[in-house]
Amino acid sequence: MATASPLLPLTFLPSKISASTSTPQRTSLPSIDHKLVISGGRPISGHVPISGSKNSALAVLAGTLCCSSGPVALRGVPNLLDTRTMADVLRSIGARVEAEDRDVLVVDTSDVGVTEPCSEKIGRIRAGFFVLGPLVARFGKAEVAMPGGCRIGLRPVDLYIKGLEALGAVAEDEKVCVYGANGKGLVGGSFHLDYPSVGATETFVMAASMADGVSVLTNAAMEPEVADLTKFLIACGACIEGAGTSTLVITGRKKLYGAEFTILPDRIEAGTFMAAAAITRSCISLSPVIPPHVARMTEKLTEAGCKITQIGPSALEVSAVPEVTGGDLQAFNIKTLPYPGFATDLQAQCMALLTTCVGSSIIEESVFENRMHHVEELKKLGADIKVVGNTAFIGGTKPGRIALTGGRVRAADLRGGAALVLAGMAASGITEVENIAQIDRGYERFEEKLLLLGADVKRETEAAVSNLHPVLLA
Ligand code: UD1
Repeated sequence: MATASPLLPLTFLPSKISASTSTPQRTSLPSIDHKLVISGGRPISGHVPISGSKNSALAVLAGTLCCSSGPVALRGVPNLLDTRTMADVLRSIGARVEAEDRDVLVVDTSDVGVTEPCSEKIGRIRAGFFVLGPLVARFGKAEVAMPGGCRIGLRPVDLYIKGLEALGAVAEDEKVCVYGANGKGLVGGSFHLDYPSVGATETFVMAASMADGVSVLTNAAMEPEVADLTKFLIACGACIEGAGTSTLVITGRKKLYGAEFTILPDRIEAGTFMAAAAITRSCISLSPVIPPHVARMTEKLTEAGCKITQIGPSALEVSAVPEVTGGDLQAFNIKTLPYPGFATDLQAQCMALLTTCVGSSIIEESVFENRMHHVEELKKLGADIKVVGNTAFIGGTKPGRIALTGGRVRAADLRGGAALVLAGMAASGITEVENIAQIDRGYERFEEKLLLLGADVKRETEAAVSNLHPVLLA
């Protein structure tokens, strides 16, 4: 087993990086041909620190474009491929993004003058498109390429555009080029979202914060990350009522100012580690975590037979040891929904867990239409899963057995990749998870944290794996 190096304090960049520098340097840069090699069947134990929220950090980084006066100091921005790409998107239009110390990222968009960010960077992450709203509100024009991100469905941007149109914007080609009212900024307006899209809500809120007049958004997404963005904008001088609810009333301000802000803990990372404890029938603690943000996950794991205990204001203990569960976990059903429903970003991890539970279960994915790529990979590890449309039927296992066996699998997307690692931790034998760049997009030092908990997991290049595991190459 490889040994864990002590965790460094949460940090975005290791040293000062100038505005003109492209991708920041890092001592152990993950690359596309890295794999995780997991020796499964070991329990884990101890404490895992939870990083700042990826999705909140990405929205807040876009939101810094609203602050035309003075720098923003952000704490808790996780050091991830996606956040580094977002920093590069901002740099591509003249923002200064640099790490002040190990935990503070300073972003100054005062000198931004360009309204067409780097298309190649935008094309790598969904959140790249979030810059559209603040740019058009601030400069009266924005030309933003279609975004990238996980391939988990069509992921159109029609609701983003319709929201901006309600604020007076004119979309030139319904895709990328948006002008403000009369070629200037935006004006207050009302908009009802047909679906509570996270990104469309965030785009509307940022744009309306700088529009001339009052705007009202109904059926807004209520995800904690949306509320976090709202709190950030308020800290910068925005006037927004209803943060965290489905109706937001925003009185536009001519100018927003720099401020200090701390990103909330990542509920999806927390939920992933909760699932890790359950699938390995272990007991771990985690913090910081905001318990209501993982309430659905807590309920489902409790239904399975785990014991979840709040051991501090922002700390949980998750126990799935045989003394607590009686030896087996029981199957449960899930339907993914917008918050406060069960998070789609935890669907894959729970599917991995359910393959080890006693009894059959059903997962209905209702948020994205194509988020089952992990199914075929889990089946390679022996899982019994059938998919009909967007519903997965999971066979589960028999009392006293964990049915998974090691094998070679490939991460097709971020959360599906994490699910495969969890499955590998429960499986007998060795599991290789390829295309780890997907996991690096959204989990800060994932394998380092797993090592700290006692998991046997190593990051290896393809060549190194070939040398160490010839059996798997046969
Ligand atoms: C965000 C999160 C993602 C999470 C998702 C749902 C970020 C960077 N990503 O993604 O991790 O899984 O919320 O919690 O924050 N839709 C449209 N038209 C639009 C916009 C969305 O039809 O204009 C549809 C999407 O195709 C999808 C559904 O709405 O089926 C939900 O998408 P949305 O809430 O917008 O998710 P994202 O913001 O992309």
